[in-house]
Amino acid sequence: MKVFKTIKSLQSNLSLIDKSKTLGLVPTMGALHEGHLSIIKKAKKENDFVVVSIFVNPTQFDKKEDLIKYPITLENDLKLLKAVSCDFVFNPTASEIYNSDVKSESFDFEGLEKVMEGAFRSGHFDGVGTIVKKLFEIINPNKAYFGEKDYQQLQIIKKMVDINNLSVQIIPCEIFREADGLAMSSRNVRLNTAQRNAAPLIYKTLLKSKELFPEKDINFVKNFVKNEFEKNQILSLEYFEIADSELLTSTKVKIHNKKYRAFIAVFAGAVRLIDNIALN
Ligand code: PAJ
Repeated sequence: MKVFKTIKSLQSNLSLIDKSKTLGLVPTMGALHEGHLSIIKKAKKENDFVVVSIFVNPTQFDKKEDLIKYPITLENDLKLLKAVSCDFVFNPTASEIYNSDVKSESFDFEGLEKVMEGAFRSGHFDGVGTIVKKLFEIINPNKAYFGEKDYQQLQIIKKMVDINNLSVQIIPCEIFREADGLAMSSRNVRLNTAQRNAAPLIYKTLLKSKELFPEKDINFVKNFVKNEFEKNQILSLEYFEIADSELLTSTKVKIHNKKYRAFIAVFAGAVRLIDNIALN
């Protein structure tokens, strides 16, 4: 496994790969867990070589505190990556990526960026679009892998690839969960014991909303979820939305044959957790 800090050294190594071989990219911000590793294993199966990027991208954090508190566990990450036979790691500094201009490009994702995470985290998706586009330009992968854990991010990246006519194929990967249902996240280590014990309510509520969805109207499901969190002392609901799976537009009335997903964001103290589920 080779680790690169600079664009130049990474590119000169990638240029040695035979053109007949395929290259997969898994972008991450490090603090790797089993969810990340499940994606990397999939990428390994589907490509001759895999690059994992580890870069805590400053432009996608709307709150400075969140960026400062983002866990950095590089030594352990490298151990885990070696164990899953990752070929290349790209771990640049912010100045390597942005020079002195730590700014986002401004994107039009045709409305996908305006709802849910986009509405609650100002500038977040411009930051994500900026770094992912840069990584695609630097690495030029055949396939790039993104988790459904960040379903809105996945849709936005697909849109960016479409709009810019990029040749990379975007591969969605299933959400990986702890045994009690909590979606794995680098932020979970910031939960105290009481918060960690309360957090499985998020997935439990999503499962219940999936169960209610065929029988009840959307308002009923939304009120059910709201009540579940109002009863809880430790978790507070930021949003719960039922939205069209493709366009991510919020839905009030179900339309036959359309695919819907439920999306949730919850605070446990200062830690913000998100999750989602396919409803039909
Ligand atoms: P990060 O949160 O490190 O996640 C890296 C990738 O792992 C993302 O595609 C994310 O959706 C996926 N992932 C995280 N937890 C997962 C889980 N429990 N199950 C399945 N997949 C999971 O997402 C980012 O980084 C950044 O926004 C990035 C795309 C790297 C751009 O900076």
